[in-house]
Amino acid sequence: CGIVGYVGSRDAVPLLLEGLHRLEYRGYDSAGVAVAGAGLRVAKTAGRVADLRRVVPADMAGTVGIAHTRWATHGEPNDRNAHPHTSGGIAIVHNGVFENSDRLRAQLLAQGVTLTSDTDSEVLAHLVARSDKATLEDAVREALSQVEGTYGVIVMDADRPGELVAARRGSPVVLGVGEHEMLVASDVSALVRFTQQVIYLDDDELATVTADGYRTSTMDARSTTKSPTSIDVATAEYELGEHPDFMYKEMSEQPEAVDRCLRGRLDHRFQSARLGGVNLSPQDYQRIRRVKLLGCGSAYYAGQVGAGLVEELARIPADAEPASEFRYRNPVVDPDTLYVAISQSGETLDTLAAVQELKRKGGHVIGVVNAVGSTIARECGSGIFLHAGPEVSVAATKSFTTMAVALAMLALDLGRVRDLSITEGRRVVAGLAELPATIAKILGAEQEIADIARKYARAQHMFFLGRVRGWPVAREGAQKLKEISYLHAEAYQSAELKHGPLALINPEMPSVVVVPDDELLSKNISTIEEIKARGGPVIAVTDADLPPGLATDVIRIPKAHDALAPITLSVPLQLFAYHLARALDRDIDRPRNLAKSVTVE
Ligand code: G6P
Repeated sequence: CGIVGYVGSRDAVPLLLEGLHRLEYRGYDSAGVAVAGAGLRVAKTAGRVADLRRVVPADMAGTVGIAHTRWATHGEPNDRNAHPHTSGGIAIVHNGVFENSDRLRAQLLAQGVTLTSDTDSEVLAHLVARSDKATLEDAVREALSQVEGTYGVIVMDADRPGELVAARRGSPVVLGVGEHEMLVASDVSALVRFTQQVIYLDDDELATVTADGYRTSTMDARSTTKSPTSIDVATAEYELGEHPDFMYKEMSEQPEAVDRCLRGRLDHRFQSARLGGVNLSPQDYQRIRRVKLLGCGSAYYAGQVGAGLVEELARIPADAEPASEFRYRNPVVDPDTLYVAISQSGETLDTLAAVQELKRKGGHVIGVVNAVGSTIARECGSGIFLHAGPEVSVAATKSFTTMAVALAMLALDLGRVRDLSITEGRRVVAGLAELPATIAKILGAEQEIADIARKYARAQHMFFLGRVRGWPVAREGAQKLKEISYLHAEAYQSAELKHGPLALINPEMPSVVVVPDDELLSKNISTIEEIKARGGPVIAVTDADLPPGLATDVIRIPKAHDALAPITLSVPLQLFAYHLARALDRDIDRPRNLAKSVTVE
């Protein structure tokens, strides 16, 4: 979910709607806004920010307000369940989950309170309203002491207009400092248009915000001192410009994004990588016996690409695991393992919780994160920033490629303090340096890929097959297709096909086969033959010369260094999913049921 608040002298409504629009990628099931002027005014609706604009009354005005865009967890996404929730003059917006809300709802009902929604969040409005503390801050503090779970909240009281109280536990809150005005939001994308001066709240921190300043304190009422930091993002990076949607824009930006990720980090003298932010000495590197990569969704698949690179270049056992699985299976945390938390947003709750679990058990964890200042980046304290620029589309593209590039540099660096020779190091460095140009060439072949994608838009199901280097590529390719086209896509290891799923192959079941030009080329050719023999159409995605007529369709890309092929081979699969989804007229940037940043469990 996304939250935003404003206090100042301007009309809050347009500012809040603009902020919400920027936060919509965090959820778009319902949206709402509340302002305090002459009393409390609330407008909310199921649907998107555009729908909210339509229901906001023309005379709704005030110089202090809060707003919310929702990704539903508890209660279906209807008007009633949309935030802000209110109780008397109190209005709240909440990102996170109150885990004991059932008990609190029962208590409130027993006290005669009427609950108007099915959400866990509403209880907070009533708890604040029922507090007899003198200040809003103390009332919020008291109310929050009764809830269990996670929150980023903003609370407003129409009877005390001129201030907002915000608090965080597990869900990000950032304050934006303006000229006689202040903003509060769940991330900087809602603020950059108004100010570049921001303050990130820490967990269990509370802020009272007025037009002229802010005061921060802990949940147990000890003051904290925070000064603003400058954010370095060009507002244009959040604009669509000429592009039809953000996914297209972000795919197109990949050559520059990869270039920025590599900039200053390739060490041509030692044929290695310079990753200052990792903060480990060569001796520390030497002690690493395993590498464990953790992330969710595309970040997890990028981690799998990274694990392959670490094993290949550094010969250190490595594997990737979904962060959510890791945190709940009581992992054995090993002091000689390097843990790597991967996240575009730096706010994914499952990944953050895995980092916290690791730290509690004494594990050494670094972050591979795009959003500077994000919770995971700060929690890890060291790591590699992607420098991919803001990513807005739910479907990850430039963040995926830059994650893989960052992990390739980590693998190279780990390799070069071990057995990776300077000659091989040079090849990898050269291969990395070529990536921006190679990706630009792949993007240049968009029309051919689009033509092929459109041919398959009527399929109901699709296989994505790959082995070894091609396997995470197949998984990410299937993920892209599922997310934005809603076709059922299943990724499978090529050799496992014959052990069961081959039964599904028929002329209605196309298979996308990832075929890197490496030592397994002939094996992949056999996979294609197996499918063809059963009448299944095959789309080969390859940097090799395949025998003519082997596959039904071939997406051919330029060759990269063998170890880096997973990075280049992923790009045509983004275009494939994109054009197939366009052919089906899908909402590319806002696929149903999804959100870009999942800051709840
Ligand atoms: C969500 C998004 C995915 C993304 C995943 C991890 O589920 O829909 O596209 O890959 O979160 O996000 P992160 O910000 O941690 O990389």
